[in-house]
Amino acid sequence: MKVTVVGAGAVGASCAEYIAIKDFASEVVLLDIKEGYAEGKAMDLMQTASLNGFDTKITGITNDYSKTAGSDIAVITSGVPRKPGMTREELIGINAGIVKTVSSNLLEHSPNAILIVVSNPMDTMTYLVHKTTDLPRNKIIGMGGALDSARFKYRLAEALGAPISDIDGMVIGGHSDTGMVPLASHATRNSINVTEFLTEDRLSQVVEDTKVGGATLTKLLGTSAWYAPGAAVSSLVQAIACDQKKMFPCSTYLEGEYGLENICIGVPVILGKNGIEEIVDVPLSEAEKNKMKESAAGVSKTNGLLEL
Ligand code: 2OP
Repeated sequence: MKVTVVGAGAVGASCAEYIAIKDFASEVVLLDIKEGYAEGKAMDLMQTASLNGFDTKITGITNDYSKTAGSDIAVITSGVPRKPGMTREELIGINAGIVKTVSSNLLEHSPNAILIVVSNPMDTMTYLVHKTTDLPRNKIIGMGGALDSARFKYRLAEALGAPISDIDGMVIGGHSDTGMVPLASHATRNSINVTEFLTEDRLSQVVEDTKVGGATLTKLLGTSAWYAPGAAVSSLVQAIACDQKKMFPCSTYLEGEYGLENICIGVPVILGKNGIEEIVDVPLSEAEKNKMKESAAGVSKTNGLLEL
């Protein structure tokens, strides 16, 4: 199993590290445009192999896509992260061109690869890859909901004073500060709906804290987060690589599902060796359906800024 990660910045390097530690891939190629940067990150990571106990071979390369040839899965993290006070959507001007070039370069050498898009604004970047490549929709996956769901579970555990392992919850919709749809009606603490434990006001606060989870960290860190994004995308890579048939909320191109079409937005999917193997239609409350429509309108507005 060969995995390429484009972008050796904090998110890409964290993703490569988590993939290596999980030790399900034979090789991870880390590519960056900055001379020597990916090579340095890969060497530093390889020097943890005896300490972290993995055999995955991590190699770094500067902008030579021939070394990514034959990748089964490729992760696109390249582009600029947001600064405090910025929205993800404000990155489109710079990142759209980068993502278009990177996806083309990847597919030139790995035509059968499954692409996972992380670069922001992620739903629109996923849509861009769908519109500018010939990949079938099952092979184009946007990572946002897995990260947002992890933040949702973190906030729920915090509110409940419960261990994260007792919590389950999912966030669908757009990966944006205003467009996320945390499915509070389905969230549970050890199979019991969280509404049995939390007041409506406290649950609303959990939802709002989840939606700005990325912005909260950007304000604290001065740049976008990287540990949780890296871990989230490594979980998607593992589900595909190991054919796990796991359910994650991922941004995918919709053709009528959830009443939406011609858009990439986060919905529950089953991930396996073929990438997105099923789009799962979960029952939504009327409020959740309306929030999904509002979220889709926001994503479509950002898509309209693309020069396709
Ligand atoms: C985040 O929410 C980078 O969009 C990513 O942290």
